Amino acid sequence: MIPRDFIQTLLSRVDIVDTIERYIPLKKAGSNYVARCPFHQEKSPSFSVSPVKQFYYCFGCGATGTAISFVMEYTGADFVETIEELASQVGLEVPQSQAHEFQQTKEQDQFTSLYDRCHTAMLYYREQLKLSAEAIEYLKNRGLSGEVAARFGLGFAPNQWRNLEGLSPVYSDNSWVDSGLVVQADEGKRYDRFRGRIMFPILNAKGQVIGFGGRVIKQDEPKYLNSPETAIFEKGHELYGLSQAKEAIRERSQVIVVEGYMDVVALSQWGVHYAVATLGTATTATHLQKLMRLARRIVFSFDGDKAGRRAAKRAFEVGLPLLQDGKEFTFLFLPEGEDPDSFIRVNGKEAFERKIEEALPFSEYFFEVIREDADIATMEGRAKVLTQAKTYLEQIKAPAMSMLLREAVAKQLGVSIDLVKSVVGEVKAVPTATRSPLVQRRDQPMSLAARMMVALIIDPSLLERCGYPGHTLKGQDEEALMTVVNLLREQSGTISPQGLLELLRGHDQFVLVEKAIRREWIALEHTPQEELDGFYQDGLLRLEDAYVATRVQELMKFSRERSLSELELVELQRLLSLKKKG
Ligand code: UTP
Ligand code: MN
Repeated sequence: MIPRDFIQTLLSRVDIVDTIERYIPLKKAGSNYVARCPFHQEKSPSFSVSPVKQFYYCFGCGATGTAISFVMEYTGADFVETIEELASQVGLEVPQSQAHEFQQTKEQDQFTSLYDRCHTAMLYYREQLKLSAEAIEYLKNRGLSGEVAARFGLGFAPNQWRNLEGLSPVYSDNSWVDSGLVVQADEGKRYDRFRGRIMFPILNAKGQVIGFGGRVIKQDEPKYLNSPETAIFEKGHELYGLSQAKEAIRERSQVIVVEGYMDVVALSQWGVHYAVATLGTATTATHLQKLMRLARRIVFSFDGDKAGRRAAKRAFEVGLPLLQDGKEFTFLFLPEGEDPDSFIRVNGKEAFERKIEEALPFSEYFFEVIREDADIATMEGRAKVLTQAKTYLEQIKAPAMSMLLREAVAKQLGVSIDLVKSVVGEVKAVPTATRSPLVQRRDQPMSLAARMMVALIIDPSLLERCGYPGHTLKGQDEEALMTVVNLLREQSGTISPQGLLELLRGHDQFVLVEKAIRREWIALEHTPQEELDGFYQDGLLRLEDAYVATRVQELMKFSRERSLSELELVELQRLLSLKKKG
């Protein structure tokens, strides 16, 4: 846990212009800075950064947020990683929460030494590759150039028990065992985990080495050996090649997830730089969430064999609840016996990219999965498919996809949509939790409450000048408005827009608030002060009217069911007199 007030301190030190300039060049334009938007493809710059508001906004795709959001969206780092990155940029230390202080510093030291051991080993293995004719020969035979080997930091572990001997006291220092690079035998003897193998360093989002995969160069078992999980290496969180592929993934808004280290490296050799691999484990939700921050389209590529099919189904099941309208999961099955490496080597980049284009859309794969081996010509078969469909459809949160799939199921089975709905259930109205700025919804106008909330975020002094909304209002946007009002009151007007948004991060209403900002910021920011005051005051009255009308109706309804209490009667009279006046 990072203390909240630290985030506010950090935001007061960070300048959004400096931060963004570390990643993309900005040009001054009036009081703002502009650039070509890094979150969508465009020719002329519509990405604008306001040093006064400490916000960025894209007129093209609606991307918006604070320095923190920018780093998260741009680098794909998570919140804590982002805070650490920004803190280091401005020379602040992220405080540890006090209860765990001792333990955490100890952990911190341990992490540092593990990163250090992995880095040292990576450099060593790279040197050894240069010295081994055999290893170089192996990589050359697989079609890899020195350039690609360098890009992935490939190395070689000679076939000896204690390669690392020359690197400081490796075999007496426990951190080498903790890093997974040194193995301790039962009798206490220590030796290298990786021997006689091509070494693939695994990097985290920051580009630090956290583990290795090692491939034999002669026939041997196992073919690949991986670092064990350590304090800095968790397989379900990391993707091989992500650090190198990030730029290309973002650029195309597409990523291909393959099975092997070699596939990632070979694809890059042939000019496909947007591939990553899981680390000999199944795809996890964390993997997908990381990738969905970077790309609109995720292509899973699996080998055409049974194991590949099984892995695809796992990915499908993990992806189901994460699906968002506007994001796309597709499935690429190569012919049996082929993997991306062998395919691209024989058929070339164009043929491979055509395969990617033609990958099976989620909806079609969905049918493959639910149909499995059922015979839909029979009623029993159709019943089985419907039951399968129910299990999966219930997990989908993307409203449009969920609805369309119900319709498609009906069509495929030749039954009515009503029948499908009665078995599977209606689409649940889940608030659209699309975090990505790339997905824009211009379908409905923003509610009054949402727009007032944005006005308040732009100019918190409205509260003092024009007054507070008087009642606890019902409705999502209304509740979000009240949350913002209460936060502003607590901070007594001293909080910046970005500070406020960051206070809300993780709050139930963050998504709503962010969406409102995305849609209304520009219009309201450019509204002259007097007009903004007018809009807000008028809004207060209209909210009050709406409140009065709902409350009157409610009380009237009660009065038909039971007799009203004294208090309720007084309230009703007062409300009715207000209504007449207005
Ligand atoms: P593959 O056997 O498909 O590897 O395993 P590959 O990448 O095509 O290897 P080459 O082309 O023979 O060099 C896919 C992935 O499964 C994991 C590794 O992560 C590998 O990249 N694996 C495989 C292991 O962890 N151990 C093994 O023994 C084999
Ligand atoms: Mn292969």
